[in-house]
Amino acid sequence: MAILDLQKALELGLVSNGSVYISSMPQVRQGKRNDFMVGKFVRGANSVEFKIWEERTFKTVLNHGVGIYDVEVEGSEYNGSYLTVRRIAFSSDKTVKASDFLAALPEELINDLQKKAYTRVQEAGVSDKAIALLEELLHDPSLEGRFFLEGAAVSHHDNQIRGLAHHSFKMLEILGTILSQQPELKAQADLLTLGVVLHDVGKVWEYDNLSMGEYWYSNHRARGLEFLAEQKAKIIAAYDEKFYRQLQAIIIGHHGEYGDRPTTVACAIVHYIDTLESQVTGMLEDLQRSVDNRIFVKDWGYLAGF
Ligand SMILES: [Fe+2]
Ligand SMILES: [Fe+2]
Repeated sequence: MAILDLQKALELGLVSNGSVYISSMPQVRQGKRNDFMVGKFVRGANSVEFKIWEERTFKTVLNHGVGIYDVEVEGSEYNGSYLTVRRIAFSSDKTVKASDFLAALPEELINDLQKKAYTRVQEAGVSDKAIALLEELLHDPSLEGRFFLEGAAVSHHDNQIRGLAHHSFKMLEILGTILSQQPELKAQADLLTLGVVLHDVGKVWEYDNLSMGEYWYSNHRARGLEFLAEQKAKIIAAYDEKFYRQLQAIIIGHHGEYGDRPTTVACAIVHYIDTLESQVTGMLEDLQRSVDNRIFVKDWGYLAGF
């Protein structure tokens, strides 16, 4: 079934069919006569409200939860437009993926950025061995390709499909600049490169297509360490145990004062690059969304835009 054009479907009285995506669990509210369901269908940066009046119809959503559904909807209006769901079934079409419905960064943008960042750090002294190992780890079957699909966050910076790779490779470019400014870091260039790109790798399991994953409470630092442990033999074969332990320390402490504190200089460097990249990106995203060209920063109050 084709993906439903949500905006078109909103036309009052129009009945249409298509696939839709529910990214967070809808609410069941008490009505005058019966309970009804209110939720949102998501497509790209937009979402459209839907209502399901019949309990036997919304039971399907309660049973299956977040995911892709095939629906028949009618454009409706009451205090604004919404879609009345007349029929809904959990989609069995394996060719349609949740990522098809979500706001996404273009694949070419990530590919170009990755190439540029690799060149940059290689010019600053990173070895071919490090790049080869990194590529092998990023394409490890256990990741199911999701390092290149998941977002960097659910609600903050780079919360789009491919946001995790975007955030990680932007950080790698910043690292390239630092490496070229600090020649004494040359001997640590491989460690810092693997640390920067893999610091958030656990988000592949903490998140699930920009929503919290099933086991979100075991956070991305724990899951990143677990991934690293599975790759331990490979990493030690390419380097040594010290390198592996230093990488562990980067994953453990990269949140600085907002988690386990850094225990190595390498970890502190990754933490500073992470903070710089995520804060600048988050701030600019907030400014773009702002209706009065200003943003609120917790410690500083309001900041005027440009
Ligand atoms: Fe993180
Ligand atoms: Fe990060």
